[in-house]
Amino acid sequence: MDVISAIKARRSVKAFKPDKVPIKTIYRLIDAARWAPSAGNLQSWEFILVEDSTAKKQLAAAALSQDFISDAPYVIVACADTERSAVKYGARGKYFYSIVDTSAAIENLLLAATDIGLGTCWVGSFNNNIVRDVLGLPEGIAPVAIIPIGYPADEGERTTRTSLGNIIHFERFGKFQNVKTGDSDESPPKKNDRRRNPRDDSGLLDIFR
Ligand SMILES: Cc1cc2nc3c(=O)[nH]c(=O)nc-3n(C[C@H](O)[C@H](O)[C@H](O)COP(=O)(O)O)c2cc1C
Repeated sequence: MDVISAIKARRSVKAFKPDKVPIKTIYRLIDAARWAPSAGNLQSWEFILVEDSTAKKQLAAAALSQDFISDAPYVIVACADTERSAVKYGARGKYFYSIVDTSAAIENLLLAATDIGLGTCWVGSFNNNIVRDVLGLPEGIAPVAIIPIGYPADEGERTTRTSLGNIIHFERFGKFQNVKTGDSDESPPKKNDRRRNPRDDSGLLDIFR
C-alpha cells in the first residue's frame, strides 16, 4: 500500500478479533515507529508492549473504561522520554519536543499497522497516575498514547474531515482562499467557528508560543 492510501485507509478501530498477532509483526510496527523524525534525532520515545490480560484490563480501566482496549491481543503504550529531551533542550524539550517526537512515532506505527491489515486506535484519554502504576513508569517517562492492536472485527467508523479551504491560510493567519476557484476570502471569523477564531485558543497553548 502506498503512503497516501495508508493514510486515507487508517481509521480508529474499536473492535478486535481474538486472533493472535505474531510478535514479529508487532516488532515491525515498532521498527516503523522508530524511523519517525525527532528533535535532534534524540528519539525520545519508549514503547511498553502489554500482552497480559490483567494488565490490559487495568489499562482499559485507566482509560475511563474504554473496554475495547483489553479485547486487543496486544496493547502498546507509547511513552515520551521527557528527560532525554530536557537534557539537550530544557523546557522546550521536556514539554514539547518529546511529546511531538513520540506523536510522530505513533502515527508511523498506526500507518504501518494499516498497511498490514491490523487495526489500532490512538487512545489519549486516560488517568496518568494509574497508567504509570500499572506499567511501573519511572520519573521522566510520560505515557502519551495507549494503542490497542489486533485484527479488526468490523470496518470501524468512517470519519470526515473539515475542508481544505478552512485550514489553509495564505501568507498570513486568517487569509483564506477558495481552494477550488482561487478567489480570496478575507471575511472576519464567523461567530462560533473555532477554526476561524484564534482567540478561542488563547491560554490553552501557551507552552507552544
Ligand atoms: C491525542 C488523541 C487522543 C485520542 N483519544 C482517544 C480516546 O481516548 N478514545 C478513542 O476512542 N479515540 C481516541 N482518539 C481517536 C480519535 O477519536 C480519532 O482519531 C478521530 O475521531 C478521527 O477518527 P479516525 O481515527 O477514525 O480517523 C484519539 C486521537 C488522538 C490523536
